[in-house]
Amino acid sequence: MLKRLLVTFASSLIILGASINASQADKLTLYCSAQEDWCQLLARSFEDATGIDVNMTRKSSGETFAQIRAESSNPKGDIWWGGTGDPHLQAAEEGLTMEYLSPMRDQLHDWAISQAESSGNRTIGIYSGALGYGYNSDILEANNLPVPACWKDLLKPEYKGHVQMANPNSSGTAYTTLASMVQIFGEDEGFEFMKGLHKNINQYTKSGSAPIKAAGRGENTIGIVFMHDAVKQAVSGFPIVVVAPCEGTGYEIGSMSIINGARNLDEAKMFYDWALSADAQNLALQVNAFQVPSNRSSETSPSAPDMSQIQLIDYDFKKYGSSAERKRLLQKWDEEVSVLPQ
Ligand code: F6P
Repeated sequence: MLKRLLVTFASSLIILGASINASQADKLTLYCSAQEDWCQLLARSFEDATGIDVNMTRKSSGETFAQIRAESSNPKGDIWWGGTGDPHLQAAEEGLTMEYLSPMRDQLHDWAISQAESSGNRTIGIYSGALGYGYNSDILEANNLPVPACWKDLLKPEYKGHVQMANPNSSGTAYTTLASMVQIFGEDEGFEFMKGLHKNINQYTKSGSAPIKAAGRGENTIGIVFMHDAVKQAVSGFPIVVVAPCEGTGYEIGSMSIINGARNLDEAKMFYDWALSADAQNLALQVNAFQVPSNRSSETSPSAPDMSQIQLIDYDFKKYGSSAERKRLLQKWDEEVSVLPQ
């Protein structure tokens, strides 16, 4: 009897041990650089679909890039989903992320694949969206301010203290703004623009979408953001008007990469393939994420900015996502713009 009990106890321990091992293996550390509610929904939906536990951290694009680089000798993250493509390209060039050819590639738009090809298949496009700005029409009216329509309008002295954008070091949105101004106006004039803009800025935030959330709450007037982030505030009922600037504008290819040295590589690949599926991309609609999805069969919300109606520049992702250029532009902004008195 005692012997039988001991055998049962021992085999329970083995089963328990096996399930601990299984649960240790079935997990994924996700670094997410899109909006918090979308990151949460993705993490929970992947858990439901696979039983894999997801440990998700949300940080802005530039911050996540810096974290992955700082952890590179002992990587803690498995996969980086979302955020602007430029720092994903820089991570690819610096060998911080790994090559992966997903079987889902043939379901994607060409722009998603060209992002992959320009990185040696170390990153891939998951969504795209155009840069612009939004303003709170109630505050604009209450302060008797002119209605802006162009980038250059934002330099008007009347807007002093009324404009907010993120810091381009932490935020992919703000780096896209800096790189877009350099491409639209040329480097010298682009930097003159950033210096003029600096005089009107009330705060450089960490996260790219924060300026338009603040405008929605009535704590800021104009926020330089991706247009889809401004639309999200407008459809939530805030008095936000979305502007596609008259000079034309830059755009992002939001990207995804597997971190080199990922401890949970199989799970990272499963997440990667799943995140490229139309079903996973359609989750965006539940959280009012109005980016254009990269799977050709995904649905795009009718509220999403119509990219074909926006004057987009031919954004040079290869150049502005290169390690040397991103470092150079950020350093120049730190030294020549952010230090100026306001
Ligand atoms: O999720 C909103 C969003 O604007 C994405 O489209 C973009 O990739 C990301 O946030 C950029 O965030 P940040 O500017 O904070 O890096």
